Amino acid sequence: MTPSRRNFIKTLSTASALAATGGVNTVLGNTAPAYIRNLVGNSPNDRIRMATIGMGIQGNSDTQAALRNPDVELVAVSDLYDGRLVHAKTAFGADKALFATRDFREVLARPDVDAVLIVVPDHWHDHITIEALKAGKHVYCEKPMVQHLNEGKPVIDAWKKSGKTMQVGSQGISSAAYQEAKRLVQAGEIGPINYVEATYDRFGAIGAWNYSIPPDASLTTVDWDRFLGDAPKRPFDAKRFFRWRNYRDYGTGVAGDLFVHLLTGVHFVTNSLGPTRIFSSGNLAYWNDGRDVPDVMTTVMEYPKTDAHAAFQMVLRVNFANAGKINNVTRIVGSEGQIEFSQNSLILTKKKLSIAPGYGGYDSYFTFTPEVQQEFVKQYDAQYPPDTRTAEPAKEIRFDAPKGDDAHAQHFGNFFKNVREGSQNTVEDPIFAFRAAAPALACNESYFEQKVVNWNPVTMTKNVPTPVVTAKKPVVRKKK
Ligand SMILES: NC(=O)c1ccc[n+]([C@@H]2O[C@H](COP(=O)([O-])OP(=O)(O)OC[C@H]3O[C@@H](n4cnc5c(N)ncnc54)[C@H](O)[C@@H]3O)[C@@H](O)[C@H]2O)c1
Repeated sequence: MTPSRRNFIKTLSTASALAATGGVNTVLGNTAPAYIRNLVGNSPNDRIRMATIGMGIQGNSDTQAALRNPDVELVAVSDLYDGRLVHAKTAFGADKALFATRDFREVLARPDVDAVLIVVPDHWHDHITIEALKAGKHVYCEKPMVQHLNEGKPVIDAWKKSGKTMQVGSQGISSAAYQEAKRLVQAGEIGPINYVEATYDRFGAIGAWNYSIPPDASLTTVDWDRFLGDAPKRPFDAKRFFRWRNYRDYGTGVAGDLFVHLLTGVHFVTNSLGPTRIFSSGNLAYWNDGRDVPDVMTTVMEYPKTDAHAAFQMVLRVNFANAGKINNVTRIVGSEGQIEFSQNSLILTKKKLSIAPGYGGYDSYFTFTPEVQQEFVKQYDAQYPPDTRTAEPAKEIRFDAPKGDDAHAQHFGNFFKNVREGSQNTVEDPIFAFRAAAPALACNESYFEQKVVNWNPVTMTKNVPTPVVTAKKPVVRKKK
């Protein structure tokens, strides 16, 4: 340990002791050095010790991204397939003993774990999050925060009660391009917003969630009963375990898996709380492999006017069999321009209409008689002087994320910063995250129950549904 680090920890121990006696705020107040005030919310150890629950594809990716931040250490992992526990020990525990278990509760019981990354199938998100918060752990939970609409409030309540830091994992909003998009929209660069569209199309088996199944998958190597959790009991099925997204019992379909990223981005950029009406249409067009969720889905959402933005509609689409051109961007359109962005780049287009509407071309003007045309022009000239006739020239400005922009690590960085500050103000806290997850989950409800879902984004509650097809009473004409 370097001398400065030793001194730092010594100073910190004093601060922590004060914190333990409840005197830190009054004793240190605002005069204490920022680093002391910031760290008293955390353990006396300045390193954050984390554990990952769920060491599948994203569990590995999240763990690596988290560890790209300084002073963070992985001390434990949990998973239900033994092969992944063995893999994690080699990948992350080569230089030390990494605690590995099938039972996530053993991870939560460990006093050396400050924060947990919850990277399990969607049907486990709420259970493990609530237990982790109760156990006094800070939580980074993958998106969508919950699997069902009624699970949002219990997670939010548990988070508030715990006082712990929580971040949800739609890391795109921590990219430089999303932040630039937010800056431009908030600066009024595209005028009042009226329309948003975003897609998440794919073309390929892996993109359509048919991930590889290890040949040794069996009831011996997989903890099948624990995987099922609160889902219906059924015999072991490796496809359901390794391709859980294809089944409603464990996943949230394309809406919960992918729309949620798009919603999170749009809410972040526009400061919106969410839509009030949601309607989804979809079908299983290509991947007829036993899955019970659609592989094509289109959704229309209505966003009401609020203090933050004008009223707008949003159209979202996922097509897992798009053999056409795929250009997955979010387009936010306003009356003075648009921004089209992804995680890496952004194009701002600015246009402004002239005040004078013009005449001629494909217009009714040519259908008037010559005398009426003459009179029309006279009146037009009087109403629209030359300075009202020129539109602002269209401008296109491109923004490329700086080389090495690492949204994933930055999203974790925001989480760890808040953990260190003892703050709950992460960029994707459970309230923000539920406001993005809920409309995505409502898409499934709309699709499967064939109805428009009415949602209150302020209170985060559902309203009375509107039937999609209102059967009109036939007009019966009386015979004379
Ligand atoms: N933020 C992103 O961009 C992003 C990308 C991919 C996945 N995700 C999210 O990450 C989560 C995991 O997805 P994935 O692709 O890694 O799935 P995966 O199937 O590859 O991994 C999930 C792992 O969780 C383990 N698991 C299941 N239940 C468990 C339990 N009760 N306790 C401990 N371990 C358990 C399984 O054994 C499996 O290894 C999902 O919620 C998904 O939506 C987010």
